Amino acid sequence: MDTKKLFNRKSLNYKVELSNGKKVEYVNLDNAATTTPLLNVEEGVIQELQEYGSVHRGAGIKSQISTKKFEDTRETIKKFVNARKEDYAVFVPNTTVGMNQLAYFFANIKGKIMVSDIEHSSSFLPWIFQEGRHQNSFQVSLNDALKNNTNGLNNKIMNLGRKKVITYKTKEDFTFDLASVEKIFSEQDKKGEDEKIKVLVVTGASNVTGYKPPIKELAKIAHNYGALIVVDACQLLQHEKIDMIKQDVDFVVFSGHKMYAPFGSGAIVGNKNILDAFWPYQMGGGNFPYITSKGEVLRYKNVQAHDPGTPNFVGARSLYYSIKELDKIGVDKISTYEHSLVEKAYSELGKIKEVVLYVKRNKRGVMDTSLITFNIKHFPCLLVAEILNDEYGIGTRAGSYCVYEFSRRILNIKSDKEIIKAVKEGKTCLIPGSVRASFSLVNKEDDIERLVRAISEIAKKGVKYYLKKYSHNNITGEYRRKYYGNN
Ligand code: ALA
Repeated sequence: MDTKKLFNRKSLNYKVELSNGKKVEYVNLDNAATTTPLLNVEEGVIQELQEYGSVHRGAGIKSQISTKKFEDTRETIKKFVNARKEDYAVFVPNTTVGMNQLAYFFANIKGKIMVSDIEHSSSFLPWIFQEGRHQNSFQVSLNDALKNNTNGLNNKIMNLGRKKVITYKTKEDFTFDLASVEKIFSEQDKKGEDEKIKVLVVTGASNVTGYKPPIKELAKIAHNYGALIVVDACQLLQHEKIDMIKQDVDFVVFSGHKMYAPFGSGAIVGNKNILDAFWPYQMGGGNFPYITSKGEVLRYKNVQAHDPGTPNFVGARSLYYSIKELDKIGVDKISTYEHSLVEKAYSELGKIKEVVLYVKRNKRGVMDTSLITFNIKHFPCLLVAEILNDEYGIGTRAGSYCVYEFSRRILNIKSDKEIIKAVKEGKTCLIPGSVRASFSLVNKEDDIERLVRAISEIAKKGVKYYLKKYSHNNITGEYRRKYYGNN
């Protein structure tokens, strides 16, 4: 697939200076974190700025045009995920904020939340936090707050919240076993209204292995037990379609910056009744039609009630343009293209004996992920990512990607006592992790060749060589001192 025309030439030809002074074209293999904007997104939003006016609050023509475009975008988004006619599409800055917003609504409802242990922290922490805040009735004095004497309160919130969230432990290979999921639902169901699961929160695609849980089947289980399902689709929509009606999904949450639309907008799409049932997540201007002389807040139950303050027009419109382009290309074609790149990286990296891969082909022997996660034996992952950047001009991501349980399991860490001690001392060197190369439309075959060549050279030179060379780096320095002494 020739993807050159889809991006600004300057982004594609971006040159970086390597540590040896040579200039090379930058290779972006960190697309699961953030994607390069599509050219039509860049051009579209710049063009629309000429007509930009205040959304929802103005009689002028620019205000009318902007309001219409903003509202039309909700329909574009709903169509993209095949939402129900009555569903809301609520704009949020990103998935993390979207999850907090949903968790706030659900915290008003009896019952428990179920998440899995492969969720990004943005998909389970908000639920713990919002539940904990809802349960907590304790406050500190202003004096204590000024002195940061607040551990009691903060711990209480998280302890209360943790009791409300059940974590499903995935199988050895980080995939779901539907029977075990159902068993938890059934057990909780027997315990009564406060214990039954009210919502299942699940990733559409893992940001670490690329694995896609069986959403339709999970939705069926949740619904059989009277629960709803929330899908964190931020790693999915740019690679694979979701069909909210066919898959019977109640909510999807996603971020624009991971789907080529980097102007600070994502969305929650889903069940209007839940969103209308409580006060909006944030209160202020724009949510309500009138506040009476007695201070009573009159409300309309509509999607605009979820737009406190002036909304992010440019963010919303960048989503509009990216969806338009993704639909034009065809999301299926995009994933086929990306999977072929990952297949090449997977088989080539697999030939390097020092490399340990944490993704695999599916049961049909086909590579169906858009990312590859790996380590080079004995190397700290952060060091590998640093070398790739400094000496090869290749941008990857290394670490835990906010999914700490995955890192502990792949590295067989039974006790994290030492890690906790190091983190409390301000050292992050022992936090376990891996290196991730993640792909998008911006990549080409040559990028894989450069990655494989680089990894092969790094592995050959060995960890001792690089620990010495990079000893100026704090993280690497700590690691070196721990495992290799001061030499
Ligand atoms: N969640 C993003 C990632 O996996 C930031 O990189």
